[in-house]
Amino acid sequence: SHTYDFVVAANRLPVDRVTGEEGNEGWRRSPGGLVTAMDAVMRGRDGAWVGWAGDPGEAPAPFDDAGMQLHPVPLSEQEIADYYEGHSNDTLWPVYHDVIITPTFKRSWRGAYRAVNKRFAQACADIAAEGATVWVHDYQLQLVPQMLRELRPDLRIGWFNHIPFPAVELFAQLPGREEILEGLLGADFLGFQRTEDAGNFLRAVRQYLDLDVTGDVVDLGERQVRAAAVPISIDVEGLREIVESDSVQARAREIREQLGNPEKILLGVDRLDYTKGIRHRLKAFGELLADERLDPSKHKLIQVATPSRERVKAYMDLRDQIELTVGRINGDFSSIGATALTYLHRSFDREEMAAMFAAADIMLVTPLRDGMNLVAKEYVTCCADDGALVLSEFAGAATELSDAYLCNPHDIAGLKQQIMKAVDAPAPQRRQRMDSMRSLVSENSVQQWAKNYLASLAAAPKAPSTQA
Ligand code: G6P
Repeated sequence: SHTYDFVVAANRLPVDRVTGEEGNEGWRRSPGGLVTAMDAVMRGRDGAWVGWAGDPGEAPAPFDDAGMQLHPVPLSEQEIADYYEGHSNDTLWPVYHDVIITPTFKRSWRGAYRAVNKRFAQACADIAAEGATVWVHDYQLQLVPQMLRELRPDLRIGWFNHIPFPAVELFAQLPGREEILEGLLGADFLGFQRTEDAGNFLRAVRQYLDLDVTGDVVDLGERQVRAAAVPISIDVEGLREIVESDSVQARAREIREQLGNPEKILLGVDRLDYTKGIRHRLKAFGELLADERLDPSKHKLIQVATPSRERVKAYMDLRDQIELTVGRINGDFSSIGATALTYLHRSFDREEMAAMFAAADIMLVTPLRDGMNLVAKEYVTCCADDGALVLSEFAGAATELSDAYLCNPHDIAGLKQQIMKAVDAPAPQRRQRMDSMRSLVSENSVQQWAKNYLASLAAAPKAPSTQA
């Protein structure tokens, strides 16, 4: 059977298998920043992607998706509940995002996490050519590097974390924290969004594995592992091509007209997730209307909330809270034929998203904690020259996009102030800030990111077992 020199492993494939009402099968692009970024990296590159097809039961056979080789890994109903919804998204996700909600710890979930990680490691081992590079992604697969090294010591193994890595005091709560650190140290190079994330990891290694760390290198005796920041980005050229097309520009004008050509369009685009700060943002917007600092006939907010992890309780509760708040705001401030807030609970294709970014005067990216947040970079790439970005200090993107209107979303008064600053800023100021952010993003595309990451992985010292 065919083997590959380059293999990517991520929990999700870039497409999900969906079954229609008549039992007919189709494929849909998967949600989230990881897929957005890695899809662009993998197109036009030789390699295979190992991942879950997003539905329970038997996995589809490996297939070609526009030149990309996809290798589905099966998950049973029970594994979806325990490994994916449970340990990945109800234990690790809240712990890694500063315990915004209380994480759930269940022993049976850890067993499923281990078993599924083993399956991913085996799937990679099966299709990787001698000496191949395997790039493992994100918090769902933290045991894969070590498991894969045991199966295939000849491989070069990298791991990249798309989400934050928590402070030691929070990481400390995890039953199985040592197992995770050991799992990750099976890699040759570990990539993080920010230097602070790599630092948190290195501190945890020092504290819980009692290993020597010099600078950003962990010394395992027989080999060394480097942990460093490689901030992820977007496909700038691809997105620019989309947003500059006549149809998308026309759609952007149409969106403005449909909203009644308001003075300012404010926009929020998030997966419906408690890390994204959607409630805080709506609270700030509602209060600004109540204070009459914003006028519902002149200032319109569009909030896109893409459905996500809909069977996890915290996500169901959050949806209810958000929709209650949306209803209240519209009940208080809308008039016939003119809603103050347009709330869209669904996903949109790239063209429609680009049109929204192009139409929006002010983008609100206000997560409570976020690894990077690629929406911020997408907006900067698509918006008008005098667009404005209100950005949370707690998004990884704030390290690079320091010319945004930065805010602490926990501080509602401060958040309101930064929103008003963006609304009232003179055009030259907005232009200047946007211009500098735009050059920064265009010089650091996702293609450049992958190149940087893979260069660091290639430069990592070779393990003795593969040395000549
Ligand atoms: C974030 C994570 C990804 C994940 C995505 C969507 O971006 O970093 O690993 O795929 O959210 O979440 P989901 O649970 O639907 O895959």
